[in-house]
Amino acid sequence: MIANQESEDEKKVDGDLGGTRKPRRLRTSPELRDLVAETSIDVAHLVMPIFVKEGGNVKEKIDEMPGIFRYSPDRELDKEIEEISSLGIKAVLLFGLPNKKDPLGSEAYNPEAVIQQAIRRIKDTHPEILVISDVCMCEYTAHGHCGILDPAGRVENEKTLPYLGKIALSQANAGADIVAPSAMMDDQVLAIRRALDFSGFANTAIMSYSSKFASGFYGPFRVAAGSAPSFGDRKGYQMDSRNIREALRETEIDVEQGADILMVKPALAYLDVLSAVRQRFQLPLAAYNVSGEYSMIKAASSNGWIDEPRIVDEVLHAIRRAGADIIISYFSKEYSKRIRRE
Ligand code: PBG
Repeated sequence: MIANQESEDEKKVDGDLGGTRKPRRLRTSPELRDLVAETSIDVAHLVMPIFVKEGGNVKEKIDEMPGIFRYSPDRELDKEIEEISSLGIKAVLLFGLPNKKDPLGSEAYNPEAVIQQAIRRIKDTHPEILVISDVCMCEYTAHGHCGILDPAGRVENEKTLPYLGKIALSQANAGADIVAPSAMMDDQVLAIRRALDFSGFANTAIMSYSSKFASGFYGPFRVAAGSAPSFGDRKGYQMDSRNIREALRETEIDVEQGADILMVKPALAYLDVLSAVRQRFQLPLAAYNVSGEYSMIKAASSNGWIDEPRIVDEVLHAIRRAGADIIISYFSKEYSKRIRRE
């Protein structure tokens, strides 16, 4: 039997080669390990999220996210952007925190509101920085949901779409390079693409939060952004964390509707999703290393339980290994400082 013969041969070869195959040979020095490293992180892959708060002279600590602040769109934001730019980071993801909220989230599309001010300011002072802006309603609505509610308190998908289009358009108008819809409404990419194209913004790219899961890992962000829903949860629109095939379906729909960059969010509990999306789709892929993932590491580190730089290095490489081209992380600044020094 040929099959048997083959396995006999293999055994023999195995025996003969015993001791010659030593993967450890390539681990004998840092230089060798670097030479054969399969993944790397360039500062150009990192995006720094920034919270911009309405007002003047604000630099406010966020207790739940040590090292992260809310900045007003004035000198405070300028200074932060200056530092980010000097570190070699090329892109920021902006979240606006308005003082006034209403049921329609009107501060999200008011051309003079906080997020539009911040976008204009960054593009004026640092045109080299790519501005990505979050397109959602939860930071702007009094009820904290990501869309318009019907009388029963359910988010109405079709009614929400024109608002998302308006928000994206107002951000593009202010100078955003990329808009990033995170509301998880069906057809949001199509609605936004049409709104942008219709008004002459055919070159504004869409980074869609194509598979965004309903996740406990957003906890610190919701405190930071004051965007927790005042009742209920987001499970009626964000994805069920038990599903991966559904994530692929969501992604496929966004590709068809004209998304330019895809995203998986959160990152760490969803590396399988990241890897599956990477294998099936050709578009650039981002992973969002979200607030809870950041704060857990910070908390353990401040207790002296873990070696933070080591853990961050592992986490960011895991995200790259799983297939992300772009990593959005609250560690972006710190990590860039480190790779500059090394
Ligand atoms: C929605 C939005 C959220 C995050 C980014 N965009 C919160 C949510 O869906 O409740 C979370 C990001 C993080 O946790 O770092 N506008």
